Amino acid sequence: MYNSKITGLGKYVPENVVTNDDLSQLMDTNDEWIQERTGIKERRHIKKGDGNSTAKMGAKAAEIAIKRAGLTNNDIDMIVFATLSPDYYFPGCGVQVQHLMGMDTIPALDVRNQCSGFIYALATADQFIKSGMYKNVLIIGSENHSGGLDFTTRGRSVSVIFGDGAGAAVLSREEDTSKGVLSSHLHSQGEHALELSLKGPSTEQWVPELIENNPQENIPYYPYMNGQFVFKNAVVRFSEVIMEGLEKNNLNVTDIDMLIPHQANLRISQFVQKKFKLTEDQVFNNIQKYGNTTAASIPIALTEAWENGKIKEGDTVVLAAFGSGFTWASSIIKW
Ligand code: UT7
Repeated sequence: MYNSKITGLGKYVPENVVTNDDLSQLMDTNDEWIQERTGIKERRHIKKGDGNSTAKMGAKAAEIAIKRAGLTNNDIDMIVFATLSPDYYFPGCGVQVQHLMGMDTIPALDVRNQCSGFIYALATADQFIKSGMYKNVLIIGSENHSGGLDFTTRGRSVSVIFGDGAGAAVLSREEDTSKGVLSSHLHSQGEHALELSLKGPSTEQWVPELIENNPQENIPYYPYMNGQFVFKNAVVRFSEVIMEGLEKNNLNVTDIDMLIPHQANLRISQFVQKKFKLTEDQVFNNIQKYGNTTAASIPIALTEAWENGKIKEGDTVVLAAFGSGFTWASSIIKW
């Protein structure tokens, strides 16, 4: 029996900083509304021509993670790539990373679980390592949201929230089964699939139909979010899935050294913090700087928490996410 443990972490965000004031030049919004409702002060957006894409940002984060793991690209046995904004409808970003990083013909798998994507990717990689099949698996979460958002007032409730960026981790075999990823807990509820979704173009409504069937001002190629409904479900599921993970490992809330919640909204993280009576030091948030980067938010936050010395060997680290699907998930890690 093996466990898997995180041996390297990396992040990459585009240089272009977009403040709330910048957005208020494009739509009817303001810094006060955005900060009060979400906690976000600024986010990063890819700039046309800056050489970034979802796969390329993922590869940049991965390069750092592999180096920090003390490995080379040739040591990686598999890639698991989580995103909701792939460069192409198909193929997925995983194969692009395999090529960009000059890796051997290793398997590359794309995960389509949105905000929970990174934890689903981690749980998948963990199983390949636990089974003994692979030794080092590269997991990436990366998003290019800015390319697909509606930056007019019509899209303001969604477009002010999301940002671009990537995070990566190397998961490696660990022979001491009291360390590393202790367990992961994955859930979905497709009943609410369309409450946070991007419907078109799709096989249901391909491009010609999309244009023909929808008025020009309402073509559904922008994301839709039923914000309050998502918020209400998020706070319940975050709490449930964290408790599920702790109970499975006979741990209590007081055993949490660091909670890394998916950076959906600072108010959601604060709700969870208050509910579990955690201190500010026990919950890592960086949504203020990057907005919601969906599948990239946990690996970016985990990387920054580790870089800032907030995660030490022996710590109990809890990852938790909720989002489109609905999907939600947690992982309990003994660092
Ligand atoms: O990561 C995946 C999971 N996602 C989430 O967990 C997100 C969950 N939802 C949320 O975080 C919040 O629902 C939002 C931040 C998206 C919205 O906050 P809210 O407090 O639920 O606002 P609301 O949608 O109810 O809108 C309140 C008002 C509306 O105006 P009226 O109808 O009261 O006149 C909106 O039109 O705020 C207006 N509004 C804005 N005003 C200024 C919506 N977006 C904006 C904006 N700037 N950007």
